[in-house]
Amino acid sequence: MKKITVLFLSLLMIFNFAACGNQASTPQSTAENTESTPEPSEQSSEALIEDSTASVAESNDAEGKTLVVYYSATGNTEEVANYIAAATNADVFELEPVEPYSDDDLDWTDDNSRVVYEYDNPDARTVELVEATVPNWESYDTVFIGYPIWWGIAAWPVDGFIEANDFTGKTVVPFCTSSSSGLGESGELLAEAAGTGDWLEGERFSSGVLEETVQTWLENLGI
Ligand SMILES: Cc1cc2nc3c(=O)[nH]c(=O)nc-3n(C[C@H](O)[C@H](O)[C@H](O)COP(=O)(O)O)c2cc1C
Repeated sequence: MKKITVLFLSLLMIFNFAACGNQASTPQSTAENTESTPEPSEQSSEALIEDSTASVAESNDAEGKTLVVYYSATGNTEEVANYIAAATNADVFELEPVEPYSDDDLDWTDDNSRVVYEYDNPDARTVELVEATVPNWESYDTVFIGYPIWWGIAAWPVDGFIEANDFTGKTVVPFCTSSSSGLGESGELLAEAAGTGDWLEGERFSSGVLEETVQTWLENLGI
C-alpha cells in the first residue's frame, strides 16, 4: 500500500510540472507574437506612406515639368534664366557652343570679328553645340528659351537647339536680354523655325534686370 501511495504521489507531481510548463510557455509565445505582428494602426500608416509616395511620383509624371534652356555669351541671360528656374522650380539646360565666343569674337565694332563675319554671312551662323538635346525631353510641358539679342534677333547659337527638338505639345516661352532693343520678331522667328509647339509672346529684359521684375512677369504669365 505504501508503494502504491508513493507511485500515486509521483504521478501527481509529474502531471503538475507538465501543467506549469505549458502555462509558462504561453505568455512568451504571446509576447513574440505581439512584437512580430504590427498593430493594425501601424500597418495601415505604413501602407499610407507608400501609397502617397507613389502618387506624388505619378502626379509629377502626369503634370509634366518646366525647363529653362538658354544661351548666354556674357552672363546677362544666364542670370534671368536662373531667376526663372528658381521661381518655377524648373530644370536648367545651358546651350554651349563647341567653340565658345571669346571677347574678341563678340566685338561687333570690329569688322573682322567672328560675330560680324557670321552676321554678314548667314550661312556661317550654324553653331555646333556641345549638347543640342535634353535628357527626358518628353517629361517637360513648359520650356522657357532664353538668348541675348544680336542685331535685333535671337543670338544664333540657339538655332541648333530649335532645329534639333520637337516642341509638339509644349508651351514655349521665349525671353531675351539686350542693351536697348525689344524682343522684336525674335520669338516669332524661332517659333517659325521650330514649326511645332504653342509659343507665347515672350519678354525682353534689360541687362541686370532685378529678380523681382522677372518674378512679377512670371506671376502675370499665369503658367
Ligand atoms: C554681337 C552682339 C550684338 C548685339 N546686338 C544688340 C542689339 O541689336 N540690340 C541691343 O539692344 N543689344 C545688342 N547687344 C547687347 C546684348 O544683347 C546684351 O548685352 C545682352 O544682355 C547680352 O546677353 P548675354 O550676357 O546673356 O550674352 C549685342 C551684343 C552683341 C555681343
